[in-house]
Amino acid sequence: MTTAQTTPQTNAIHAGEARFVSHHSLTVPIVQTATYTFANTAELIAYQEDKMFWDVPERVEYGRYGNPTVYAVQAKLAALEGADDAVLVSSGMAAITNTLLIMLSQGDHFIITEDCYRRTRIFCSSFLARYGIDCTTVKPGDYDAMEAAIRPNTKLIFSESPTNPFLRCLDYPRLVDIAKRHNLKTVIDGTFGTPINIRPLDYGIDLVVHSVTKYLAGHNDLLAGCAVGSFAMTTPLQQAQGVIGAMVDPHTAFLILRGLKTLGLRMAQHNANGLAVARFLEDHPKIRKVWYPGLESHPDHALAAASMTCFGGVVSFEVESDGPGASCFIDALQIPHIAPSLGGTESLVEQPYIVSYYDVAPEDRLALGIRDELVRLALGVEDTGDLIADLAQALEAV
Ligand SMILES: Cc1ncc(COP(=O)(O)O)c(C=O)c1O
Repeated sequence: MTTAQTTPQTNAIHAGEARFVSHHSLTVPIVQTATYTFANTAELIAYQEDKMFWDVPERVEYGRYGNPTVYAVQAKLAALEGADDAVLVSSGMAAITNTLLIMLSQGDHFIITEDCYRRTRIFCSSFLARYGIDCTTVKPGDYDAMEAAIRPNTKLIFSESPTNPFLRCLDYPRLVDIAKRHNLKTVIDGTFGTPINIRPLDYGIDLVVHSVTKYLAGHNDLLAGCAVGSFAMTTPLQQAQGVIGAMVDPHTAFLILRGLKTLGLRMAQHNANGLAVARFLEDHPKIRKVWYPGLESHPDHALAAASMTCFGGVVSFEVESDGPGASCFIDALQIPHIAPSLGGTESLVEQPYIVSYYDVAPEDRLALGIRDELVRLALGVEDTGDLIADLAQALEAV
């Protein structure tokens, strides 16, 4: 395994990969197997005696317990986040649900911030409640409410940062201070940030989860998730993988490795597109409001500017219209596709109220700030000028 690289860009290319692999292959082989063979019974018995039951050993006996192509992705993700280890799973939601299931027990309470991916909040408020695990939702940025929500049985604080869709950014030192004083664990969904823009573990956060589907894999062509942290945090999750079974198949792991090679390059373009488009929209008369942490007008700009190297490729904004203006604008776009998700090479656009909140009563989604005119634009890596020209022509339709 290579160890000399230190910058995220170089780690994304080399870290986690053996310098010399079978058949003199430069790339990590796809070990496409469900199970692993033993030469004879004596070898199997030696393996059973050698292995620590839950460790990830040099070799494994069955695909649900491990795979060499998956190990390479995990090692690369760990290097990128500056962590001991990573656990790769079949989706971002699997990373979140497994993490919460493993870290919490019946009778526990935890805190989650309001502006989080809706499926995460549904899991917290509906699914976990059935197992006797309670959660309190607080507004991002309201640290007094966060501290006031802590109970004797509170075990952890979960948040995204930047959040979805309003790109709120957490004050990690403040969050970690609260958590440490109350002996709580902290888990951050870092999907929107990526380790190129910010590494929460560097601030003392205990565990970072990602939807690898998004920037990390980066090509809108697969689903995966990961949890990254110290061995103390990841070992229980690795162990649970063998039981829960949310594995990533070896071919998908190879595609993630391939995607990660260009993470630094891709993030540079996502970041550049995000900032340029946010500035363009902020100055446009047909745009009411823009949320992007790189803009001085964003509530967390100072915090983001002090902690993030760049601000990502997602821009949320309200179109100046009380009618179908946002839909007219979206339908007139020629480059972004209308689709959920973010972080891939292709720009994607959506109205959150239709994609994520269509089954929610208008008053409930309005309470979360999800207005009909709200648009979430997830910029890909297309040319900045082409994107801005497309936005400009589409805004004429409003
Ligand atoms: C911030 C965030 N976390 C987690 C997820 C879930 O990831 P996945 O779709 O890979 O399950 C999403 C999906 O959109 C997301 O935006």
